[in-house]
Amino acid sequence: MATTETAAPAAALDLTHIRAQFPALAQTVNNHPAVFLDGPGGTQVPQRVIDPISNYLRRDNANTCGAYSTSRNTDAMLAEARAAMADFLNCGPDEIVFGPNMTTLTYMMSRAIGRDLGPSDEILVTRLDHDANVSPWLALEEKGVTIRWAEIHEENCTLDLADLASKINDRTKLVAVGYASNAVGTINPVKTIVRLAHAAGALAYVDAVHYSPHGLIDVAALDCDFLVCSTYKFFGPHMGVLFGKREHLQRLRPYKVRPLTDAIPNRWEWGTLNHECIAGITACVDYLADLGRRARPCPSQSQAATRRAALVSAFEAIHQYEHGLMERLIAGLSQIPGLKIYGITDPAGFEERCPTLAVRIVNQNADQSANQTTGQTPLALATQLGERGFFTWDGNYYALNLTERLDVEKSGGFLRIGLVHYNTVEEVDRLLGTLRQIVGG
Ligand SMILES: Cc1ncc(COP(=O)(O)O)c(C=O)c1O
Repeated sequence: MATTETAAPAAALDLTHIRAQFPALAQTVNNHPAVFLDGPGGTQVPQRVIDPISNYLRRDNANTCGAYSTSRNTDAMLAEARAAMADFLNCGPDEIVFGPNMTTLTYMMSRAIGRDLGPSDEILVTRLDHDANVSPWLALEEKGVTIRWAEIHEENCTLDLADLASKINDRTKLVAVGYASNAVGTINPVKTIVRLAHAAGALAYVDAVHYSPHGLIDVAALDCDFLVCSTYKFFGPHMGVLFGKREHLQRLRPYKVRPLTDAIPNRWEWGTLNHECIAGITACVDYLADLGRRARPCPSQSQAATRRAALVSAFEAIHQYEHGLMERLIAGLSQIPGLKIYGITDPAGFEERCPTLAVRIVNQNADQSANQTTGQTPLALATQLGERGFFTWDGNYYALNLTERLDVEKSGGFLRIGLVHYNTVEEVDRLLGTLRQIVGG
């Protein structure tokens, strides 16, 4: 397990090389080039990830642990994918659990953790989180567990840390927190929150789904007990991945069928996994690692010597590139009359946000009917953008607690614009021009 991690100094990405790897990016819509700003809902996939998925189905399609070649190949492929995810998260391969998606894995864990909880126990969730890190814990109310809520600062959609800290006490058994908000892009101080949870003897459960394409995750440095992500958010197949500290994966009792081994991590993997998707995971981690190896200026040999070191360099370059795009987008959006950005807009706070923007057109009397009359609801905007080739999202994207808290749930939520590293300056500029045309700015 890596402990010291030094990243390459200011490094940049080769966008021509990157974009050529993603077949989907060449599409057009109504003769407009497709612009994928829907990364927060799932990113596109490079050819090198598509190939092992189809090759697996063509050649090695089998169940595990059989005494014949395709089954052995399947076992080897699963072991490789586990090792790749262990490098991605900085943990041991036996601490990597595969599952259908983050939501299912979190329900599985909440059921197992909840087995030992009752009326004298509390769990802390946040208003900023995707509901997949809220409802699985709310389900434990049926066991008498009290669910408490950490509030936000409404003006910039950051977590109110003082409020969060005040709601942790010796009854708290678990703190569930997102690494970054999939709606407004806020990055939470997860390390501090883990420390607060541990000081009270509580577990820390981190949802890293939104953060994973944007920043390096280091579960060893965070010291979190669990962390979940989904590979379809970082250029891979539709799979969920859970990191659990070895001691917890061994100690907790899964609901499982009897023939399934009791060894970790497999005791947490129920039924036959989606092997063909898992076959794309190593390539997806290697795609990112290669970005690090090719980053400019070139990382030193030691910086790219291992896959983990190459990933450190990759996320340094991704961070630098994405932040340039984000600053341009926020500056441009700020010029559009009547457009409100939710979340951090002060450049001094940009290190605490991802390039994920939630916006609305705010009329004088900002109600749904006014926006409907002018065709400026989030859905209407997303539809008009979609016809011009820009793929954005509207609604709450399951960050329901936030849209309710900000009172935009009944009026269509937000329009979400999500950048990842395959987006370009030209795309940002064209989006800004098209938005200005649509809203008349
Ligand atoms: C922050 C966040 N958490 C959790 C999820 C749920 O992930 P999955 O679809 O893998 O269950 C999403 C999906 O959009 C998300 O953005």
